[in-house]
Amino acid sequence: MNKNSLIYIAGHNGLVGSALTRCLREQGYHNLLFRDFRELDLTRQAEVEKFFEAEKPEYVFLAAAKVGGILANSTYPADFIYDNLMIQSNVIHQSYLHGVKRLLFLGSTCIYPKEAPQPLKEEYLLTGPLEPTNEAYAVAKIAGIRMCQSYNRQHGTDFISVMPTNLYGINDNFNPETSHVLPGLMGKIHKAKMNGDPTVMVWGSGKPLREFMWSEDMAAACIFLMNVDRALIPEDSGKLFNIGTEEEVSIRELAELICEVVGYRGELRFDPGKPDGTMRKVTDPSRLHALGFAHKVSLREGIAKLYQWYLNH
Ligand SMILES: NC(=O)c1ccc[n+]([C@@H]2O[C@H](COP(=O)([O-])OP(=O)(O)OC[C@H]3O[C@@H](n4cnc5c(N)ncnc54)[C@H](OP(=O)(O)O)[C@@H]3O)[C@@H](O)[C@H]2O)c1
Repeated sequence: MNKNSLIYIAGHNGLVGSALTRCLREQGYHNLLFRDFRELDLTRQAEVEKFFEAEKPEYVFLAAAKVGGILANSTYPADFIYDNLMIQSNVIHQSYLHGVKRLLFLGSTCIYPKEAPQPLKEEYLLTGPLEPTNEAYAVAKIAGIRMCQSYNRQHGTDFISVMPTNLYGINDNFNPETSHVLPGLMGKIHKAKMNGDPTVMVWGSGKPLREFMWSEDMAAACIFLMNVDRALIPEDSGKLFNIGTEEEVSIRELAELICEVVGYRGELRFDPGKPDGTMRKVTDPSRLHALGFAHKVSLREGIAKLYQWYLNH
């Protein structure tokens, strides 16, 4: 990409899309293209066709998706598989038809089998059963990866897929019903502090191990991959890359870290009656690291940055 390239960011208002927009601008890319959901519903094929015909973007970051936590995924599986299949199929196909130079498709680590060895390597894809609570979403994302790889093989396109670990950052979703664990805990612990509550209840046993990445580190990794010389991408990679930090914490340690940052001195209680999900999920980002990328923001630093943003918003 050069600084004048016409770059389309699908999902620019979201956690990932807004981080991509901020980082691209900081890196001097100023010819950015976006549409609000109200202007362009990416599940509608004819609308997406008209948009690509009119705008002809050179590069595409596909960060639009229907995303949510365990509760939302297990309650609305039909919406999660339909919306994501439609969004990615429309954008990937139109990108091919309009000669997009490189597209980056965002999936997530839920594509890997529930019992896959840890840390998760890209080659574990489709080697076993998925986590049932978000299987519909995961199947849609796996279809997106295979779609990119199929278009690359048949049409010689240059479509890359990235599997980021759990992300957090500015514009994160703090709605207790639909949020991911980190913003969910931060909102809950902040409210307990403001109300002077003696205890905070945390879902599950507190034992599951998780990995979290600051959204702008992830965005920087995506921009890095969008600019990597095609010849440097290993043939056998299927242009599939994990993005992660290899920094693991238990849900209990995460909650304790958030208590420290928020300044909450009450007691954490754990509710083993609520689902833990997979007991350990950490990525192996060595394929990306081999190309020369490394993240910058530690979990403690990131949580402090997010809390500042939360207090001001
Ligand atoms: N968050 C994570 O921890 C995480 C981890 C790994 C991978 N990812 C991947 O990153 C991508 C983005 O996730 P995110 O966390 O940024 O989600 P998000 O904050 O919910 O953002 C999703 C964006 O997509 C837009 N969108 C949804 N449906 C649309 C439609 N039909 N037409 C047009 N726009 C639509 C939304 O628009 P509105 O703002 O108008 O609703 C929103 O801006 C997803 O592919 C996800 O799999 C996320």
